[in-house]
Amino acid sequence: MSEKPFRVMFVCLGNICRSPVAAAVFNQLVHERGLEQHFEARSSGTGGWHVGERAHAESRRNASQNGVSLEAHRARQFERGDFAAYDLVVALDESNFEDLRALRGKQPGNLRLLREWDRQNAGDLSVPDPYYEGGFQGVFDIIHRSCDELLKELSDV
Ligand code: 4NP
Repeated sequence: MSEKPFRVMFVCLGNICRSPVAAAVFNQLVHERGLEQHFEARSSGTGGWHVGERAHAESRRNASQNGVSLEAHRARQFERGDFAAYDLVVALDESNFEDLRALRGKQPGNLRLLREWDRQNAGDLSVPDPYYEGGFQGVFDIIHRSCDELLKELSDV
């Protein structure tokens, strides 16, 4: 693996529910596997409504119950330049993916969907949005198993 860490950007709509969980879970798995020198993750939202805010209270509470802290998170909006700054951009649902693809335009950029790494996706590549639909624990479980598989693939273990 190279000297420079591989940078992953997780992107949802508001950057207060799903992508903060994905980045925190991914970074925790990186830490557990002693891979901090090789990988780092951040998150952002395609929308700007919550910029500067903390993660959603229920997301924070649920993540904490699962041993993952979102306390340091502050919401930011995804920028076009992030495609060049990050090695991999991972959309949380298909609508985020389409918005990101439109924003990317013709510039290069590695864009994928998180549930491509969910062995239990049953053909559904979107992580449901708990902001509208609730189900924070189910969302956490999808994100955790997908990030686990993603990191396994990236680190080739
Ligand atoms: P997220 O959930 O994309 O998982 O952070 C949402 C949070 C806020 C809004 C939409 C989705 N919103 O429209 O404010």
